[in-house]
Amino acid sequence: MAKIISIANQKGGVGKTTTAINLSASIAAAENRTLLIDIDPQANSTSGLGYSGENKSVYEVLVGTETIQDCIISTYMPFLDLLPSTINLVGAEVELVNVDVREFVLKKAIQAVHDKYDYIFIDCPPSLNMLTLNSLTASNSVLIPVQCEYFALEGLGQLLNTINIVKKHFNESLSIEGVVLTMFDTRLRLSHQVADEVRKYFGNKVFETMIQRNVRLSEAPSHAKPVILYDAISVGAQNYIGLASELMKRNLVESTQKDNSNEQ
Ligand SMILES: Nc1ncnc2c1ncn2[C@@H]1O[C@H](COP(=O)(O)OP(=O)(O)O)[C@@H](O)[C@H]1O
Ligand SMILES: [Mg+2]
Repeated sequence: MAKIISIANQKGGVGKTTTAINLSASIAAAENRTLLIDIDPQANSTSGLGYSGENKSVYEVLVGTETIQDCIISTYMPFLDLLPSTINLVGAEVELVNVDVREFVLKKAIQAVHDKYDYIFIDCPPSLNMLTLNSLTASNSVLIPVQCEYFALEGLGQLLNTINIVKKHFNESLSIEGVVLTMFDTRLRLSHQVADEVRKYFGNKVFETMIQRNVRLSEAPSHAKPVILYDAISVGAQNYIGLASELMKRNLVESTQKDNSNEQ
C-alpha cells in the first residue's frame, strides 16, 4: 500500500511545487512506484512536467465524471505517474458543496489505485480550502516546505491548527512527515538564522537535507523536466536526491518498527 504524503503550506512561493516535482522524480528514480497528484488549480506541477490542461484531470475525479484510473498519465519516467490538474479545479470547491462527506472525495478515489504505488505525493494549493482538506484527509502525513526567508514561521500555526482539525474530524492518524527548509542560501546570515529558528521550533521533524537556492531548480520547469533529468549534477538535483533518500530511510525505519510491533 502506498504511503500518501501531502505537500502543504498555505503560503505561496515557498517551494511546494518544486518539492512535489523533484521529490517525486527522485523517489521514482530509485524505482519506487510513484504517483504525483496535482491538486492546485494553478497546475504548476502538471506544466512543470510538460503536461497541459487538455488532459483529463483531478477535477473530473473530484466531481465524479471520470475514474481516477482514466485520468492518471504515465510520464516519460518509468516509475512516475501523474494525476494532472487544470484551472477548472477552481470550480470544484463550489461543486463539492452539495456532496455528502465532501472532505473524503479524494480519499475514496485514491483507494482504487492505492495498491499500485509505493508513494503518492499531493501538491496542495496555497490555501487551507476544501482541496487542501481533501488532500490532508486522504494522506498519511504532511510534508511542510518552509522557505528560509523573513517570516518563515508566520502562518505555520494556522497550518498546524488545520492539521489538528483534520485529525479530530476526518483523519485521526494524520502525522507530520517533516519540515523541509527551502531556498537556503549558505552565504546569507538570514538563511542560517531562519534554519536555526525552524529547527528550534520543530526539532527532529526538520529534515537534515536543506534545499539550497539553485537556479537550475527554477529553470527546469520551463524545459518540462524534473531537475534530475535537466541537470543531474546541479546542487538542486543533489539536494532533492538527498531529501528523497532521507525520506525513504525514515519510512523504512517506520515500517520495520510497525512490522516488529505486529509480530510481538
Ligand atoms: N531551491 C530553489 N532555488 C531557486 N528557485 C526556487 C527554489 N525553489 C523554488 N524556486 C522557485 O521559486 C518559485 C516558487 O516556487 P514553487 O515551488 O512554485 O512554490 P509554491 O508551490 O509553494 O508556490 C518558483 O519560481 C520556483 O522555480
Ligand atoms: Mg505551487
